Amino acid sequence: MTSVAAGEPGTATPAVAALAYHDGQFVPLERAQVPVTTQALQYGTGVFEGIRAYVQADGGLAVFRGHDHYLRFLRSSGTLRIDVGLDAEQLCEVTAELLRRIGPTTDMYVRPLAYKRALLPGTPPGVQLTGVSDALSINAFRMGSYTARGGIRVAISSWCRPNSGVLPVRAKVTGGYVNNALAVDEARAAGYDDAILLNSRGQVAEASTSNVFVVVHGRLVTPPVTADLVEGITRDTVVTLAAGLLDVETAFHDLGREDLGNADEVFLTGTGAEIVPVTEIGGRPVGDGLPGPLTTALTTAYHEIVRGKDERYRHWLQPVGSATY
Ligand SMILES: Cc1ncc(COP(=O)(O)O)c(C=O)c1O
Repeated sequence: MTSVAAGEPGTATPAVAALAYHDGQFVPLERAQVPVTTQALQYGTGVFEGIRAYVQADGGLAVFRGHDHYLRFLRSSGTLRIDVGLDAEQLCEVTAELLRRIGPTTDMYVRPLAYKRALLPGTPPGVQLTGVSDALSINAFRMGSYTARGGIRVAISSWCRPNSGVLPVRAKVTGGYVNNALAVDEARAAGYDDAILLNSRGQVAEASTSNVFVVVHGRLVTPPVTADLVEGITRDTVVTLAAGLLDVETAFHDLGREDLGNADEVFLTGTGAEIVPVTEIGGRPVGDGLPGPLTTALTTAYHEIVRGKDERYRHWLQPVGSATY
């Protein structure tokens, strides 16, 4: 079992595991390094995922929707002509093995990163995707729920979400996250917790690292993928749970700024954030300023499911198993 660095379980403090999967091997984290000449470092030509693994009732860990995350990872990689060298099943197995070797007893967050490394012999210098070698690294850190169940305050960003003519916005491309970082920075400087970004057509795209849902008269609405957003796996989980458990169908249609203001409930969904109620937008309360009933019901269901307490959704969990070494 490998130690994790200081940090309290169940808090926002990331405690990075001392072991990573790097260039095809499990290595001590300090050996998982990249040189300053790395193409992805210079040009943002990497792609990543964020995957959670949750402690189950038996004390073991299970990865939540890992296969779906890795399918998206491979799609993102393909967009940047990165050959990851492993398929989704193999990536799931490497992840399980990494977690087995780390041997954590708390919830973990897994961060796969595939990136452009170095110019191949004969390739002239320049910003390009071909003639550049590819690399894969996966690290993990301890991460409990970090968003306030009581809700967060968000700003509407002055930064606009890029459209798909500017960047492949559905892919989780590292360089594209400059936009997200600027939006968060602006929101935090103004005293908010997070930002919702509008797309270039002035419609709601998503929050900095999560998707947006609104509830209007009991109806659940979220922007369609054509609104320039990352097609969240948590978004899909919520749509599935709303229909399957609460008999609430989700409508996918564009939302304007005004729709946020008129909503009874607003919440965000993401692997890191999980489901988080938004109780204030741009200085105005959402509904009565408290987490709404549908948000609360979905949050409760979500937390049951990620802990393996609902048989119907067990197929979303991949148990990591015990150490094999
Ligand atoms: C920009 C952005 N939108 C949405 C999401 C939510 O996606 P998921 O629910 O798959 O984590 C994420 C997180 O991955 C993100 O980075």
